[in-house]
Amino acid sequence: MRHDLQAVVAVDNSWGIGLRGTQTLVVPEDRRHFRLVTGGGTVIVGRKTLQDFPGGRPLKNRRNIVLTRDPGLLVEGADIAHSVEEALALCAQDPEVFVIGGESVYRALLPYCARAHVTRLFADADNDAFFPALSANPSWRLTDPGEVREHEGIRYAFQTWERAERE
Ligand SMILES: NC(=O)c1ccc[n+]([C@@H]2O[C@H](COP(=O)([O-])OP(=O)(O)OC[C@H]3O[C@@H](n4cnc5c(N)ncnc54)[C@H](OP(=O)(O)O)[C@@H]3O)[C@@H](O)[C@H]2O)c1
Repeated sequence: MRHDLQAVVAVDNSWGIGLRGTQTLVVPEDRRHFRLVTGGGTVIVGRKTLQDFPGGRPLKNRRNIVLTRDPGLLVEGADIAHSVEEALALCAQDPEVFVIGGESVYRALLPYCARAHVTRLFADADNDAFFPALSANPSWRLTDPGEVREHEGIRYAFQTWERAERE
């Protein structure tokens, strides 16, 4: 089983990632950063997060694997996986695989990730969805804190976290 997946996520101070099915705190530069990091690779995404994409459609220029327990779901332009094992089997030969949320998919696949690209937004948003707090997990370390930037009063940084040891 491979353990070199990469998570890509934007979090606020409390590792919050969204409210009522959508991301509330967004900086435009993060959209570009996300395309740059994931472009050309494979993304694994939960069915609910897919619904929040423009038009509910898969992302362009990437292979999309959608996780759902619905045996009847078909998504044009995406591959479907009904379990973590099925998702991992589908992407077994793909060189770069990115886990792009939401909360349940991050939780299910973080044990298979070796790196996390974390857009750290130094702000406090309202959230009902969270990414596991890597800062509280001794298996993970911040290897690149990124430079602090600012957009309309929101300070943020593109951080890299890496797994230091297997849990
Ligand atoms: N800040 C960020 O970077 C970021 C990124 C992505 C998402 N988000 C936020 O995350 C929130 C959504 O998270 P969420 O947890 O509610 O939804 P989600 O993870 O996007 O999707 C959940 C769905 O995925 C399927 N699923 C999950 N685990 C599965 C498994 N092990 N096997 C098979 N299917 C599985 C199920 O689909 P079925 O119900 O079809 O069975 C489940 O209902 C939103 O607020 C969104 O904005 C934030």
